[in-house]
Amino acid sequence: MTTAVVLQASGPNALGIVRSLGRAGVPVVAADHDRRALGLLSRYARPAITADPLSSPRSFVDDLLRLGHDLGGSRPVLFATHDEAIAAIGAREDEVDAVFRRPWSPWGRMEHVLDKAHQHAAARRIGFPVPATVEPRDEHDVAHAGRELRFPVILKPRSAPEFRRRFRAQVLRADDADALRRAYAHAAPYDPQICEVIPGDDSHLWTLGSYRDAGGERLGSFTGRKLRQWPTGFGTARAAEARWDPALAERCHRLLDELEFHGISQVEVKRDPRDGRDHLIEVNPRSWLWIGLATACGVNLPYTCHLDAIGAPAPRRWGHPDGRRWVLSAKHLVGSAREIRRREWTVPAFLGSLRPPVADGVIDLRDPRPAMAYARLLHRRG
Ligand SMILES: Nc1ncnc2c1ncn2[C@@H]1O[C@H](COP(=O)(O)OP(=O)(O)O)[C@@H](O)[C@H]1O
Ligand SMILES: [Mg+2]
Repeated sequence: MTTAVVLQASGPNALGIVRSLGRAGVPVVAADHDRRALGLLSRYARPAITADPLSSPRSFVDDLLRLGHDLGGSRPVLFATHDEAIAAIGAREDEVDAVFRRPWSPWGRMEHVLDKAHQHAAARRIGFPVPATVEPRDEHDVAHAGRELRFPVILKPRSAPEFRRRFRAQVLRADDADALRRAYAHAAPYDPQICEVIPGDDSHLWTLGSYRDAGGERLGSFTGRKLRQWPTGFGTARAAEARWDPALAERCHRLLDELEFHGISQVEVKRDPRDGRDHLIEVNPRSWLWIGLATACGVNLPYTCHLDAIGAPAPRRWGHPDGRRWVLSAKHLVGSAREIRRREWTVPAFLGSLRPPVADGVIDLRDPRPAMAYARLLHRRG
């Protein structure tokens, strides 16, 4: 069987792919710049070290090519978990494609898909709702946004990694025109969008997770929603549940059609409680944090992608049973205790988020080493 190489294998996202492939019998290599990265500790993966694609994209690709040559045999299949590796590979796609199978759209298209302004433009063309947004070029446009948009608003970078490192947050929130002006002064180098906030708690954040082949065929489709994020409001999932919504899947696939997208992706929307309409939050043109939940529901997107990449017939999966849940227990307990104390969340909602069947994104008795390393990490952070 052809080997799979999971890139930037640092967290639950990569672990979800490693376990989904390993349990299906695929030999897996997990690569990261940090040898303590969780994916490298899985019993289903052999570890490999590469440079960090964000700080050293050239060395990252050099390391990757060397790894591909060392693995020999038939070209291994690449799996991306974060945008940085996609961008680094994009700059040297021909070299990478000579050594690996790269089951996602070519860089000429991917470059646009990674840009939030381009995602919004594609959504608008097909009538897919997007939050009211201004793309400012200068302070003048920001002042205009302050008059046109309803507060609160957020500033979102058009492409995220550097922004996230600098501000240690995914977005900056502004509750009035003054705060917006100040936030823009900090964020301007990252080319931010200014978006109206869609109200409602985290459970209004719905996802289509899918794999589409090079012709845009929908080989695997899963939908679900977040229950709670870390931090709440503007963060990443710490609890989520599977809920099949075929109408949502259809609408989100139409957006992926418009983007001519090939690969694994997550389309995230927020269901506006005022009118029930799903507004685009973003398209992640790769795997996402809780992809393991799709596999647990029988929609094994990494394996489907792998089979397709090696030219083997891949079973089609459109939908799944409801109700299975996914959590990051440690974050979920700490966050929930704090929010319940502050009356920002309720005990019944917390218990509901843990109703079986539920699986942790890291802790897994069949593959315990990542959880032990995770516990040590949390302990060190205090
Ligand atoms: N317009 C919006 N209204 C409400 N929440 C939003 C909006 N945009 C983003 N968010 C929240 O912020 C989080 C991060 O935004 P996202 O667009 O996913 O940025 P990133 O590229 O950093 O993942 C989302 O998961 C969502 O919870
Ligand atoms: Mg996001």
